[in-house]
Amino acid sequence: MSETKPYVIAIDGPGGSGKGSLALRLAKILGFHLLDSGAIYRLAALKALKSGTNIKQEIDVLEALQDFNIHFESGEELTIPFLDGEDVAAQIRLESTGDAASVIAQYSGVRACLLERQRQCFQPPGLVADGRDMGTVVFPDALIKFFLYASVEIRAQRRYNQLISMGISANIAQLQADISERDERDRNRSESPLVPATDALVVDSSLLDLDQVTELMMSHIHEVTE
Ligand code: C5P
Repeated sequence: MSETKPYVIAIDGPGGSGKGSLALRLAKILGFHLLDSGAIYRLAALKALKSGTNIKQEIDVLEALQDFNIHFESGEELTIPFLDGEDVAAQIRLESTGDAASVIAQYSGVRACLLERQRQCFQPPGLVADGRDMGTVVFPDALIKFFLYASVEIRAQRRYNQLISMGISANIAQLQADISERDERDRNRSESPLVPATDALVVDSSLLDLDQVTELMMSHIHEVTE
């Protein structure tokens, strides 16, 4: 099959599995749009935190999200997220924001509120969508689905390197504990749990570098689209 119609590549998996970097690479290679759905959940969490919301109460979070103004601008390397007109690139990457994101991501009302915003990102020539439920819920008809994972130890090390390179201090043992706790929450929630779609290609990236995983993914994309 030679695929010329716009299509979605869904990349799901836990944090630190490499899906963010890989999604960016694939989007660049293919000239596709990129959806970092985790950033949307982080922006929603930041909105709630900034407005002093008790994030343990879904109804309060939904109230805070009634006025949720976000947009993204292209930076030199990455896309810059804005919340209510403020550049919050560094704030959304804080562990505290990630933790809050995983708490509010459990709420069905929050997920429903963010669903359309994510689907609107599917525009020609195509989309690489990175998240937890891209292939299962947001884009169940995606032409190509990947599920990436890696061991907790390796993911903690990757997150550590990422934070240090951004000038944010970090502690490996704490990161491992946080990652395990977040995995647990993401996998066991009743709404859109983190599970591979039945038609996803599951890739263990623990022992592979970015170039190797990119190659593997691109060869799968070519197989499906050519
Ligand atoms: O991928 P990232 O670490 O930026 O995502 C932050 C949190 O947002 C995740 O731990 C997860 O709980 C939530 N999330 C989600 N569904 C997505 C993307 C992120 O529940 N599609």
